[in-house]
Amino acid sequence: MKPINVGLLGIGTVGGGTFTVLKRNEEEITRRAGRPIRITAVADKNLELAKSVTGSGVRLTDDAFSVVTDPEIDIVVELIGGYGVAKELVLKAIENGKHVVTANKALLAVHGNEIFAAAQKKGVMVAFEAAVAGGIPIIKALREGLSANRIQWIAGIINGTTNFILSEMRDKGLPFAEVLKEAQRLGYAEADPTFDIEGVDAAHKATLMASIAFGVPVQFDKAYVEGITKLDAADIKYAEQLGYRIKLLGIARRRQQGIELRVHPTLIPEKRLIANVEGAMNAVLVQGDAVGSTLYYGKGAGAEPTASAVIADLVDVTRLHTADPEHRVPHLAFQPDQITDVPVLPIEEVETSYYLRLRVLDKPGVLADVTRILADQSISIDAMLQREPEEGESQTDIIILTHLTIEKNVDTAIAKIESLDSVTSQVIRLRLENL
Ligand code: HSE
Repeated sequence: MKPINVGLLGIGTVGGGTFTVLKRNEEEITRRAGRPIRITAVADKNLELAKSVTGSGVRLTDDAFSVVTDPEIDIVVELIGGYGVAKELVLKAIENGKHVVTANKALLAVHGNEIFAAAQKKGVMVAFEAAVAGGIPIIKALREGLSANRIQWIAGIINGTTNFILSEMRDKGLPFAEVLKEAQRLGYAEADPTFDIEGVDAAHKATLMASIAFGVPVQFDKAYVEGITKLDAADIKYAEQLGYRIKLLGIARRRQQGIELRVHPTLIPEKRLIANVEGAMNAVLVQGDAVGSTLYYGKGAGAEPTASAVIADLVDVTRLHTADPEHRVPHLAFQPDQITDVPVLPIEEVETSYYLRLRVLDKPGVLADVTRILADQSISIDAMLQREPEEGESQTDIIILTHLTIEKNVDTAIAKIESLDSVTSQVIRLRLENL
């Protein structure tokens, strides 16, 4: 059996894991793929490091372009990340007729339409299981396993760093900044964790899931993105008292008017399985009209969990390498001429429930004013909590949970509430999903 030749771009954590797992499970993987999968070339700036992982028998180079143009290479695995040289290399690989396997969610969420179109034209595959939720085969599930369904919504904990931080804030009652330092010390968060904590990484992943769930182009620029940096430990505590956990969710929902695509801290009922996903773990909940709810749970990052997804793609590509391109699974699950340009709704049009925390003077009539404003915006109250003021304290917190409403109604209500003399600071607003 002639091996299929793979060129690896980047042999850091995931590249190293890919090399190790391919070697360790070589026999089993070959039995599945039908022929051996061989990494024959590796490009990395750090040749010493590359050598220490690969040993001999692999061509090592610091020139990644020599790999994507190498006539011997059938599949290029891109593990460099980012939108810069990675984009050039992926497009060059496609131009040279190579299939591509990538873990690069940022690249695909931002430039996916261009990359998939180029691949389609050239008749090659671009596989990206490792780009979303690491080792969880969520792309496979959405693109193939659930293809009978009209998918209604997806809600995922798809960033391990932020889930770790939120779990620690809740468990230990610590503020965000302190837990972030701990996450960095433990190696969960990057030295520059901006993409994680600001919700950008989760939005990249949600963008990709929305595309394959609904058959729409990738539209990262339309996603609403709010991270956890401003989240106050007090709100985690109040949410808990009301029976909710706060998670950073990536949400994609189909509505009549368009698609909701948003990432933000979200209250979810603590009795939901997904509310109990703790630490750096990931989970994705998918609602399909035929199957109902399905939940996918596992490690969203790390060397071998991510390698598990990369290698699954390598096996897929190997099996389908000789198939007529028309008979392969389409990149975005729907046939390319069936991708429809459904609009992504602006955040003001999103429909969800809300958690509002108000700092108010503890005097008669305050609650009546607030509830009148909510009623005027047709916002119905679901639950309420008032913190008992401390001895001698003249102010207190009121927490209100609303039923479903449209965000712009809440914007209007908040502006009016904040203009009341009895409301002493900005209203804290979080979104709530009952899932
Ligand atoms: N930085 C990501 C996370 C892992 O924290 O989940 C890679 O997608």
